[in-house]
Amino acid sequence: MNEKHILLIISGGIAAVKLPELIRRLTAQGARITPVLTQSGAQFVTPLSIAALARSKVFTELFDLTEEAQMGHIELSRAADLVLVAPATAQIMAKMAQGMADDLATTLLLATDTPVMIAPSMNVRMWQHPATQRNSKRLQEDGVQIIGPNDGEMACGEYGPGRMAEVDEILARVAGFFRNGPLSGRHVLVTSGPTHEPIDPVRYIANRSSGAQGTALAAALRDLGARVSFVTGPARVPPPKGVDVHPVQTAQEMLTAVEGLLPADAAVFTAAVADWRMADAHGQKIKKQSSGAPPVLQFAENPDILARVSAHELRPQLVVGFAAETEHVIDNATSKRLRKGCDWIVANDVTPQTGIMGGAHNKITLIDKAGAETWDEMPKIDVARRLAQRIADALT
Ligand code: C5P
Repeated sequence: MNEKHILLIISGGIAAVKLPELIRRLTAQGARITPVLTQSGAQFVTPLSIAALARSKVFTELFDLTEEAQMGHIELSRAADLVLVAPATAQIMAKMAQGMADDLATTLLLATDTPVMIAPSMNVRMWQHPATQRNSKRLQEDGVQIIGPNDGEMACGEYGPGRMAEVDEILARVAGFFRNGPLSGRHVLVTSGPTHEPIDPVRYIANRSSGAQGTALAAALRDLGARVSFVTGPARVPPPKGVDVHPVQTAQEMLTAVEGLLPADAAVFTAAVADWRMADAHGQKIKKQSSGAPPVLQFAENPDILARVSAHELRPQLVVGFAAETEHVIDNATSKRLRKGCDWIVANDVTPQTGIMGGAHNKITLIDKAGAETWDEMPKIDVARRLAQRIADALT
């Protein structure tokens, strides 16, 4: 981040207490910070401590005429390479989404022509409120990159999404932005993990996918500078830092999340989606029959997310599917590519003897319209890096 200039807007949330650490780490990596503290931000951190850590003057609401003469707010908003709002409260997000400019921070945000990233931080109910969700979607449509928020314990004692992304995660995103990789400015959607299809409130149908390959791929795409939307079922491995995580449980939820995240430049479907769900999941736990007769489960077919997106009016330029097969891998995957209408299929053999499903290694065959190319066995992380690079090559 050598000499990269970040305009850091600190709005008023309890997560502002993480800001000294964020500033210290950003400056340690060579970034130059110009801090702007909102009036409510100043309730949580003092201008003096921020100024000392950022080694810069702190701009506050008391932006008087002398300062305006030295550096106008338009200039201040445009001098940076990146505008970062952390923490971003529900209030500042709402103002940004509406284009309001009633204080220094929002005036700068409206005047800037520099990319903007925000790290939301608020109570779980405030985050989940339709108004905040609407504002978040609107801001993404406007090109604002959103970091987090994460699930976790809140200062107010509640638990859920709304907690500001960790400092490491914000750093990874900012570093990814400046890395200016071949995928910078590109939006890539990745699905990952298994889905859980409820049978009743306590039981579900699942599969052995760990989410390892999808997670590695999302991280590799991020490292090439992409903005990654990561739609994940209940995976065993944690999602990567620095991507937008959208947790889901069922195939139907995954489809809704994916369609809501379009448009994207590329979409990669690594998720092991259940082909069937219960036709009518029980509202109550299914009890043993006194007769001893086992229950009969009726299935309904799940939507094929890959096929839907391949035929979508907002179809990404590149659509990649995965094919986990246990026999005739290349033949099955080749016909799957045509049936689903995607551009590439990444095929692998998941017979238990291969140890691929849930394991650390993978051996894949990449199938496109030109034919099939089998790669040597390698760690999933290397498969991910090579695949991410191929995706970058295909998009440029
Ligand atoms: O047909 P099959 O399940 O083998 O296809 C695998 C590919 O299709 C994977 O890329 C998977 O993510 C995707 N898929 C999907 N929705 C489904 C089933 C599979 O997106 N319902």
